Amino acid sequence: MNAPTTRPFAASDIDAAAGLLADRHRRDLAREAALDPGFTDPAACADLLRTAWEQGARGAVAEAADGALTGHLLAVPGDDSRGRHVWTGPGHYAARDEDVLRRLYAELSGQWLAEGRLHHYAVAAAGDLPVWLSQCFGYEQVHALADLPADAGRLHDDVRAAGPSDLDALEPLFRLVADAHAGPPVFAFIEPSFYDDLRPGHLELLEDPAVSYWLSEGPDGVRGFCVMRPVPDDEASPTKPRGSVELLLAATVPESRGSGVGRRLTEHAFADAARLGFRVCVTDWRAANPRSSVFWPHRGFRPVAHRLHRVLDPRLLQG
Ligand SMILES: CC(C)(COP(=O)(O)OP(=O)(O)OC[C@H]1O[C@@H](n2cnc3c(N)ncnc32)[C@H](O)[C@@H]1OP(=O)(O)O)[C@@H](O)C(=O)NCCC(=O)NCCS
Repeated sequence: MNAPTTRPFAASDIDAAAGLLADRHRRDLAREAALDPGFTDPAACADLLRTAWEQGARGAVAEAADGALTGHLLAVPGDDSRGRHVWTGPGHYAARDEDVLRRLYAELSGQWLAEGRLHHYAVAAAGDLPVWLSQCFGYEQVHALADLPADAGRLHDDVRAAGPSDLDALEPLFRLVADAHAGPPVFAFIEPSFYDDLRPGHLELLEDPAVSYWLSEGPDGVRGFCVMRPVPDDEASPTKPRGSVELLLAATVPESRGSGVGRRLTEHAFADAARLGFRVCVTDWRAANPRSSVFWPHRGFRPVAHRLHRVLDPRLLQG
């Protein structure tokens, strides 16, 4: 078989690329039934790719000898706190086989290095992990889905809905998620301004009627919180089903960890979301967070995609 040829992705490739993406999603849906069946429709995939193109995603396609598209790989260039990077989102790539994807990455990664883009990010579907990992990417974030209880689920007496009047009592807990990520072994870079935005950001969540903000209270005050929000339609993607609910944030004060607070908060939040008619909950966590990476799978979350990161040796830019 002749190796496919590659050329830059053009807007006129969107429809053919959408067919490949719909095929990829059909494969992913066969292994994870809670994914959104809507993305087996090439028209829905074409909408995703059109949006990506309008947001500046660029890349390459692979073609067979007869001119048929066998793969595409797109990435949005960025230059911010993540450094000079490229970002391949969940709907930004599809390929007939692993060799095609490898060839596309080989083609584009050289261009990205020439632009000084040492940081390469890709949200890879679970079924494509081996090929991405073979290109020296590593795990950064886990994207997962859980089925919500078909029966009513469990509600707990120590959990109640929080409102804006709880802002002061909750405030000491706002930085717990960032604290869990700033140090070892995660070492996520947290912008100092992030902490200034916590209080107004949580107030917005507490005031939003669509958001369910749960807190757990004990004799000494607030012990933990868990925030759920419906996934907006424009955020639906091959890894985030339309009509699902997202577990956005959760934390327990250090002195109460391991005593069942997080478990009861999650069970209560799941039961309430199920009562509201949601069937699937999505969430994501840092792969290196030792607590999350045990706690969330035990709550029923199944990984469907991973955000991967590869950083090229900075010495490659010298000379
Ligand atoms: C992840 C986190 C929210 C978990 O909350 P937690 O309150 O410590 O969790 P729990 O105590 O409910 O559960 C921890 C384990 O203890 C068990 N447990 C211990 N004592 C228990 C009790 N008395 N009753 C019920 N469960 C108990 C739980 O069943 C669970 O084990 P399992 O996962 O095998 O079922 C918490 O560790 C945390 O805040 N981490 C820092 C912030 C963070 O990383 N947030 C997540 C961001 S993605």
